[in-house]
Amino acid sequence: MKLLITGGAGFIGSNFVTHMLQQHPEYQIINVDALTYAGNLKNLESIENHPNYTFIKADIRDVTAMDEVFSKGVDVVVNFAAESHVDRSILEPDVFVKTNVLGTQVLLDAAKKYSLTKYVQVSTDEVYGSLDVSGLFTEETPLMPNSPYSASKAGGDLLVRAYHETFGLPVNITRCSNNYGPYQFPEKLIPLIISCALADQSLPVYGDGLNIRDWLYVEDHCTAIDLVIHEGVNGEVYNIGGNNERTNIHIVKTILQELGKPESLISYVQDRPGHDLRYGIDPTKITTELGWKPKHSFETGIKETIKWYLDNKDWWARNQSSEYQNYAARQYGSRLGDSL
Ligand code: NAD
Ligand code: DAU
Repeated sequence: MKLLITGGAGFIGSNFVTHMLQQHPEYQIINVDALTYAGNLKNLESIENHPNYTFIKADIRDVTAMDEVFSKGVDVVVNFAAESHVDRSILEPDVFVKTNVLGTQVLLDAAKKYSLTKYVQVSTDEVYGSLDVSGLFTEETPLMPNSPYSASKAGGDLLVRAYHETFGLPVNITRCSNNYGPYQFPEKLIPLIISCALADQSLPVYGDGLNIRDWLYVEDHCTAIDLVIHEGVNGEVYNIGGNNERTNIHIVKTILQELGKPESLISYVQDRPGHDLRYGIDPTKITTELGWKPKHSFETGIKETIKWYLDNKDWWARNQSSEYQNYAARQYGSRLGDSL
């Protein structure tokens, strides 16, 4: 199989490239990534010399570049490439629409032109909006995105659906809950809290800290997508989640306890505008129809993740880059008195 992975230098994409080369060493893997601030080829050092692995630096919005990649022969594409951070989408929605909607359309056109056997769109549970204290997202839950990020992901999903209905493109959409694990950029909650706590900096908790996310270890997300590529029924959506709902403040206190750092570092700051209260995935469809089961509990996954960040300080020292410092100043400056 010739598998094109877009966004394979990011957090989940790089874990997925590594997973696929380990599980299917005979597959040819092409990784196309624009290497935005979120992409990092260091994530792929362990497999960069694998004979069946090729990296191409290109932008999914670039029609000519994508045509060149697809024209060399691709069987399956898995699209991870996206702008992925909600807070950045509030500061700058424009690039989210361009990459997550228009970039998806460029890939769909190429997949159609070259008659791919499968197109998998890696989407998110955020397209369903926010849950109250009860209930779970199923694949039938109406799309009700609340942030520019989730609206752009929903836009991409609708195009994928339309290319299936109109052109018969063999597609799947996966909608996963919050991932955590190695190589997650330290702007997202778990690596942000680990890196700030290690530096004895203030830990910015939005609002009252009682918002709930449903956490999944990244390797379990990878095994689910691997299964969807091979067993997914064309045109179907699959929710992915491991029933691990936690409040944000619980996550922050767990990390502090593991690191032996004081709770006095916690700083409750101005809430995220439009902050979704709760996400919770009903994974019945993928578990019963495709036989997927997560391997990691939150308790073991978070310990492994903290250990990885402790062992890989050089990797996340990227948060010292001027790009990140500019973002952090805009995002947290007035909230935290510039202490990040
Ligand atoms: P990430 O931000 O870590 O990585 C995104 C990657 O896409 C980066 O390598 C970046 O360089 C690349 N990219 C961005 N714009 C591009 C463009 N125009 N052309 C080519 N490459 C481009 O994101 P992530 O957390 O790994 O998320 C990957 C995918 O999974 C996204 O589509 C996201 O919506 C989805 N998702 C993420 C989570 C999560 O918790 N992180 C959960 C569910 C779904
Ligand atoms: O649910 C899947 C989604 O999970 C993915 O589609 C997104 O790409 C991914 O970024 C993630 O979105 P969230 O907004 O849930 O993740 P984030 O890590 O940004 O925030 C998690 C929770 O922590 C959220 O309730 C906001 C809160 N938070 C976040 C940051 C960065 C804070 O309290 N303080 C912070 O500094």
